[in-house]
Amino acid sequence: MERVNTEIVTLTRFLTEEQAKHKEATGDFTLLCHALQFSFKSIAYYIRRATLINLTGLAGSSNITGDDQKKLDVIGNDIFIAAMRSSGKCAVLVSEEEENAILFSEHEGARYAVACDPIDGSSNLDAGVSVGTIFGIHKLAEGSKGTKEDLLKPGTELIAAGFTMYGASAQLVITMKEGTVNGFTMDTSLGEFILTHPDMRIPKKRAIYSVNEGNSHYWADETKAYFESLKNPELNGGKPYSARYIGSMVADAYRTLLYGGVFAYPADKKSPKGKLRILYECAPMAMVFENAGGQALNSRMERMMEVVPESIHDKSGIFMGSYDEIEKVKSFHKSK
Ligand code: AHG
Ligand code: MN
Ligand code: MN
Ligand code: MN
Repeated sequence: MERVNTEIVTLTRFLTEEQAKHKEATGDFTLLCHALQFSFKSIAYYIRRATLINLTGLAGSSNITGDDQKKLDVIGNDIFIAAMRSSGKCAVLVSEEEENAILFSEHEGARYAVACDPIDGSSNLDAGVSVGTIFGIHKLAEGSKGTKEDLLKPGTELIAAGFTMYGASAQLVITMKEGTVNGFTMDTSLGEFILTHPDMRIPKKRAIYSVNEGNSHYWADETKAYFESLKNPELNGGKPYSARYIGSMVADAYRTLLYGGVFAYPADKKSPKGKLRILYECAPMAMVFENAGGQALNSRMERMMEVVPESIHDKSGIFMGSYDEIEKVKSFHKSK
């Protein structure tokens, strides 16, 4: 008789086993992650039904970084704030959709600071393209009650980061400080995230590049030269690189993590500081990519994880991907 697989690791079990590895753990981080998990399940529910219940389209407002807010940006933001508040373990929250940091001062004992992009790739929502939620978790500084300064730290101080992509299925990717990268797939019949991609490692190289070439007129000369070199068959064993660009960072990141290659959103003459935000896009993704064996740099060829954001919505250029592909990026860009 065919035996069924009873060795199913849910995210809940994974977090419990992670906690057991740390004798000093209070369980607060685990409870915070359960609140995160709930927010992903709840956002996925609304994303899947958006077209049916008139939740596509614009909310009629814009956020501090100038993005037009989609209805689902606002709903995803509300869901995430409610989940963090009710967890009782988050002291301060920065969201792409909130101008200022939200301080949950009612939670005396809360020891965590969270940064989030509730809906990443929202410009693609109405077209049914995969979008996602990106998060980064910092621990409060000793004696801090939770202020935005607890988030103005380099990615090297993140204790956990990751994202959930709402694609054909909901895929959660999470990594802890100095840990492995683990991927979970939502089983809607169980209502559980199931460990499907343990210890994800990004391929060392892959001839795929992912960038919005519509910005190439504004790129620095060395950036133009780098991408042109990828298209030259003579420089790549007779076959040019393939171009793959979805326009949702989570989807481009997830493909790059699985297949290898390079994803880039370079700073350019139009956006000298780049477009992507450090706290809730560049730093969390950099942690995932480094922990999977890849690299992530800013446009000055500095390690993305060491960049200290100047403000909670500070931006940066970014190149991230396979280890060898980023070595090639460096060879074209002099460190400034
Ligand atoms: P968000 O939807 O959270 O504002 O993020 C959009 C970002 C990111 O998802 C993507 O990589 C990038 O914007 C795409 O920008 P372009 O449309 O300029 O290529
Ligand atoms: Mn936006
Ligand atoms: Mn985003
Ligand atoms: Mn967003």
